[in-house]
Amino acid sequence: MSGGGVPTPVPEAWSLKKLRSISRPFLSPAPNPTLMEVNEWVWPSHCHQHAAVLRHGQLLRWMDVAACLSAERHAQMPCVTVSVDNITFQSCVKVGHVVILKAVVYRSFKSSLEVGLVVESEDPFSGSRQHICKAFFVFVAKPSDGAKVQLPTLSPVTEEEKREFLLAAERRRMRTTYAKDIMRLVKNIHREKKRTSSLPSVLPSRCVSAADTAVHTVQIVLPVHANHHGTTFGGQIMEWMTDVATLSGLLVKVLLNTTSYCRKCL
Ligand SMILES: CC(C)(COP(=O)(O)OP(=O)(O)OC[C@H]1O[C@@H](n2cnc3c(N)ncnc32)[C@H](O)[C@@H]1OP(=O)(O)O)[C@@H](O)C(=O)NCCC(=O)NCCS
Repeated sequence: MSGGGVPTPVPEAWSLKKLRSISRPFLSPAPNPTLMEVNEWVWPSHCHQHAAVLRHGQLLRWMDVAACLSAERHAQMPCVTVSVDNITFQSCVKVGHVVILKAVVYRSFKSSLEVGLVVESEDPFSGSRQHICKAFFVFVAKPSDGAKVQLPTLSPVTEEEKREFLLAAERRRMRTTYAKDIMRLVKNIHREKKRTSSLPSVLPSRCVSAADTAVHTVQIVLPVHANHHGTTFGGQIMEWMTDVATLSGLLVKVLLNTTSYCRKCL
């Protein structure tokens, strides 16, 4: 309204058509409340010392935090990481690029729920994006009083949500089968051990013995390693696991004097 009480005419740019197009996102179904988008800028402190690319341990830590945010939004209580399915990193992330993590709850069961997480990287100057990986996390809701939990069920709305809702049950079944298969393998390995103990232990010249690549690290759990619940969390443990595995891999590189880094990223 202008000072004299005369209504200000809607300028041409604010025609009804334009207003409708602007308000459409607000009229469409509410976005999934468990959808979390977290952006992280890759700094040198997040990278390997000898290459300006993001350490995968740091990425796993960010992934776990983003997925946990999504899980706790649905559960509305503390959640702990139980498992992460196989992850294939399709590319490295360079220093100065932005990591975009999108997490959403696909399905909740009794006390557990599955969170799907997609990671992309963006060059902030060109805007070009690259797919880094997709992961499925399982969290379990653990109320502070230790009571039994029945999580609220999720109602998928979009086609993608409906598809992932169905697939989540299948992935849960596969996880259980996989765990049983691994147990069977471990039992069978004892029989296999007896058979292979008679094999010669001399290594061919281009081989490194597994014992030479063994790395043992000790981490003191400090307050900086705790999450918002005051405990160390899955992402932190995965970061330490990845760091020690990288060290072990580097030992192979040193012992064989070869380059084990992805050439594309250097
Ligand atoms: C995960 C945990 C709660 C399972 O304990 P448990 O006594 O085996 O409990 P249950 O058998 O009742 O299983 C509880 C839920 O976890 C699920 N679960 C257990 N092991 C699992 C696995 N390996 N993969 C996927 N889901 C699993 C079960 O399917 C069940 O889900 P549901 O309630 O939706 O059916 C327990 O092992 C734990 O607290 N682990 C530590 C988790 C943690 O602290 N993470 C952070 C690492 S620092």
